[in-house]
Parts: sequence; C-alpha cells; structure tokens
Amino acid sequence: MRSWLLRGVLLLLLWNGLTVSVLAVDQAQLQSINQSWSQSAHALADVNCSSCHQNKSTKQVLKRPNHESCQSCHKAQVDTFLLGKHGIRLLEGQTALTPALAHLPMQAAAHDKQMNCNACHDVHSVKTLPASVDSCLTCHKDTHSLNYKNSRHGQLLQEEGALPRPSTVSTTCATCHLPRQTSASGTVTVNHNNTFTLLPRDRMVKEVCMNCHGMEFAYNSIFDDDLVESNFARPPTLSMDTLKMVRALEQQRSGNSKSE
Ligand code: HEC
Ligand code: HEC
Ligand code: HEC
Ligand code: HEC
Ligand code: HEC
Ligand code: HEC
Repeated sequence: MRSWLLRGVLLLLLWNGLTVSVLAVDQAQLQSINQSWSQSAHALADVNCSSCHQNKSTKQVLKRPNHESCQSCHKAQVDTFLLGKHGIRLLEGQTALTPALAHLPMQAAAHDKQMNCNACHDVHSVKTLPASVDSCLTCHKDTHSLNYKNSRHGQLLQEEGALPRPSTVSTTCATCHLPRQTSASGTVTVNHNNTFTLLPRDRMVKEVCMNCHGMEFAYNSIFDDDLVESNFARPPTLSMDTLKMVRALEQQRSGNSKSE
C-alpha cells in the first residue's frame, strides 16, 4: 500500500510542472484526482496520468482527454459505445449527445452534460458500481428509470451493495442495457452499445433475462408494457399464446424423444 502512495506522490510531483502550466488546476483538485487514481484498478495496472493525458505520437499534454485516449487499451468498449444511441453522434463527427437533444424526459440539471466515457465513469477512480445505476439517473428521468430503485432488482442490488462478476443476483440498469458478453476467445466485456438489447425487444430475453429466469417468465415480463414501465416491480401476469404453442411443441417433442 505504501509503495502505491509513494508512486502517487512522485507522479504528482512530476505532473505538477505540467499541470500548473498546461492543465491549470488548483492543488486541491489535483490532490483529490491523485487520490482517486491511486486507489483505482488503473494504478494497480500501471496506467498512469500520462497514459491518458499525453498524445502518444505528438507527446502533447491533453487537458481533457476524450474516448480516443481509452481506445488503445479498451477497443471493444469504445467500438461498441460508438454504435449505440449514446455514442453514434461522436462516430459521425457531430457534437456529443446531451440531454438537451433528447425526446425522453431528462434531469434538468444535466441539460448540457456531454455523453462520453466520463459521463458514466469517474475516469480517475473508474469504479463500476456508481456507473451502473447512479450515473444513469443523473440524466434519465422517465418513469421506467425512476422506478428501478423500488423494484425487486433494485432492492437486491442495494442488499448486495457490490457488483460481483458475474452475479446471479444483482441486476442493474447496465445488466439489461449494457450486457456483458463473452467473445469467441472467452474474454468477457461489457457491450457499451446502449441500444443493442432494445431492438428487437426479445433480444434482451435471450441476452439478459434467461441468465437468471426461465424463458416463459422472461417473455411474459418483457412484452407487458406496464410491467416494463414499473421496471419489473411485480411478477408477470401476461400469458402469451405463442408460448403455449411453443410449450405444446416442446411437450410433443419430449414425448417423442422418450422412445429414443
Ligand atoms: C484513464 C485515463 C486517465 C488517467 C489515468 C488520468 N486521467 Fe485525468 N482525466 C481523464 C479524462 C478523460 C479527463 C476529462 C474529464 C472530463 O472531461 O470531465 C481528465 C481530467 C483531468 C483533469 C481536469 C481537467 C479539468 O479541466 O477539469 C485533471 C487536472 C487531471 N485529469 C489530472 C490527472 C492526473 C494528475 C492524473 C494522474 C494521477 C490523471 N489525471 C490520470 C483521464 C485520465
Ligand atoms: C494504457 C492502457 C489503458 C488506458 C489508456 C485506459 N485503461 Fe482502463 N483499464 C486498463 C487496465 C489494464 C485495467 C484493469 C484490468 C481490467 O479490468 O481490464 C483497466 C480497467 C478499467 C475499468 C474497470 C475498472 C474496474 O474496477 O473493474 C474501467 C471502467 C476503465 N478501465 C475505464 C477506462 C477509461 C474510461 C479510459 C479512458 C479515459 C481508460 N480506461 C484508459 C488499461 C487502460
Ligand atoms: C452509459 C454509461 C457508460 C458509458 C458512457 C461508458 N461506460 Fe464503461 N461501463 C459502464 C458500466 C455500468 C460498467 C460496468 C457494467 C457491469 O459490470 O455490469 C462499465 C464497464 C466498463 C469497463 C470494465 C468492464 C469491461 O468491459 O471490461 C471498461 C474497461 C469500460 N467500461 C470502459 C469504457 C470506455 C472506454 C468508455 C467510453 C468509450 C465507457 N466505458 C463508457 C457504463 C458506461
Ligand atoms: C449524460 C447523460 C446520460 C447518461 C449519464 C446516461 N444516458 Fe442514456 N441517454 C441519454 C440521452 C440524451 C439519450 C437519448 C434519449 C432520446 O433521444 O430521447 C439516451 C438514451 C438511452 C437509451 C435509449 C433509449 C431509446 O429509446 O432509444 C437507453 C436504453 C439508455 N440511454 C440507458 C442508459 C443507461 C442504462 C445509463 C447508465 C448506465 C445511461 N443511459 C446513462 C443520456 C444519458
Ligand atoms: C430488468 C431489465 C431492465 C432494467 C434493470 C432496466 N431496464 Fe431500462 N428497459 C428495459 C426494457 C425491457 C425496456 C423497453 C424496451 C422496449 O421498449 O423495447 C427498457 C427501456 C428503457 C429506456 C427507453 C425508455 C423509453 O420510454 O423508450 C431507457 C431510457 C431505460 N430503459 C433506462 C434504464 C435505466 C436508467 C435503468 C436503471 C435506473 C433501467 N433502464 C433499468 C429493461 C430494463
Ligand atoms: C442477474 C440475475 C437476473 C437477471 C439478469 C434478471 N433478473 Fe429478474 N429477478 C432476479 C431475482 C434474483 C429476482 C427476485 C426473485 C425472488 O424474489 O424470488 C428477480 C425478480 C424479477 C421479477 C419479479 C419482481 C417481483 O416484484 O416479484 C420480474 C418481473 C423480473 N425479475 C423480470 C426480469 C426480466 C424481464 C429480466 C430481463 C430483462 C430480468 N428479470 C433479468 C434476477 C435477475
């Protein structure tokens, strides 16, 4: 622990010259940034101030790095982010998405908050738990979003108080909207395309719900608009006809397979 602290202090000293002239921030802000960073997964992995704040080829110091500074190490996250509604404007070379541009209800205080990696992640602490619910609610204010904390999923997260990976209990906004996916090579990454599981709607059933619920329970929940609006605050009451058909078919099949 001591050596991390020492390293932090050394970096801070090294960076003082630069920050005073280029970043132009006060000592108190610098101290607090350094403290967040020194306890982060980045510090443990030797990802330092200059890893993000310095352009690799020009060596120029960047005051406010953007998503491109993350790209060399987190390509999958950056690439998927740029494909969803959150990131597509940046991919198309437009200004960042802000709540001011939205059709959905948004928090007034976040009107001009720009969508980028740091909209959800405190880029210096990079803790993932605050990114999973609290960050979303700094901008989103529709009924579905506001109902999450009173849902069974929300209560269970609060009881658990952590994001163990993978979890069979915790279901955050991100579990449904930024699902974890396993690549062919077996690495698990968070798919940052926030529109991926929305269309078609039953994609979420397969990608997300069925990790924890049965197919029927999941379908009957996700096609019930009131239940979605309540953020799944009660068991499903819908009973889909197509499911009865699927079940009948399955029974028929298993009946046949008994003789094999
Ligand atoms: C993982 C990448 C990353 C690392 C590591 C990192 N930063 Fe940052 N830093 C950023 C990003 C991105 C921003 C811009 C955030 C924003 O736009 O709000 C930023 C913003 C800042 C700012 C604020 C600039 C302003 O105008 O408010 C300061 C100061 C700063 N960083 C200093 C540091 C110091 C010192 C370190 C090392 C202890 C460090 N950063 C490590 C990515 C990083
Ligand atoms: C030089 C490589 C490098 C750069 C640049 C970098 N990271 Fe990381 N990042 C890592 C490593 C290594 C880890 C820890 C191992 C892991 O969890 O994959 C990590 C972990 C993370 C985590 C997970 C933390 C946790 O507690 O699980 C987040 C979130 C993250 N980085 C965000 C960012 C963002 C946002 C940027 C750009 C502003 C960025 N990183 C830039 C290498 C980098
Ligand atoms: C809409 C909010 C949001 C935005 C924007 C966002 N993230 Fe994330 N990110 C999350 C959440 C939430 C998690 C943790 C999800 C989980 O573990 O279930 C996460 C996890 C991660 C992780 C660690 C897990 C993994 O995939 O290995 C990395 C690295 C990461 N994000 C990088 C980035 C980068 C780089 C950007 C910008 C291109 C970015 N994030 C933008 C919300 C966001
Ligand atoms: C900086 C503010 C901001 C943050 C933080 C943020 N969002 Fe968004 N999000 C938006 C805006 C703006 C839109 C576009 C809404 C519109 O066009 O009406 C959007 C769109 C969405 C959509 C697509 C809605 C649709 O109908 O297409 C989903 C899903 C979503 N966000 C989920 C999340 C989740 C989950 C988080 C947290 C992990 C999050 N957002 C964090 C601002 C934000
Ligand atoms: C258990 C899964 C689940 C959880 C948890 C969840 N959502 Fe959703 N979300 C959905 C589904 C399903 C839809 C509806 C998709 C559709 O209409 O096609 C949706 C729709 C949305 C939309 C679009 C709303 C609209 O009116 O078009 C936004 C924005 C959103 N969610 C944000 C959030 C935020 C923020 C949280 C956490 C505070 C959250 N969601 C938690 C499953 C979930
Ligand atoms: C990580 C596991 C996990 C995921 C993923 C998950 N859930 Fe759940 N869900 C739970 C747990 C645990 C409960 C509580 C069960 C209990 O209380 O017996 C629950 C409860 C529910 C309830 C009942 C709420 C109540 O008040 O009784 C509904 C409806 C629901 N989930 C729908 C969904 C839908 C739809 C999805 C996918 C969009 C989903 N869940 C994804 C774990 C999960």
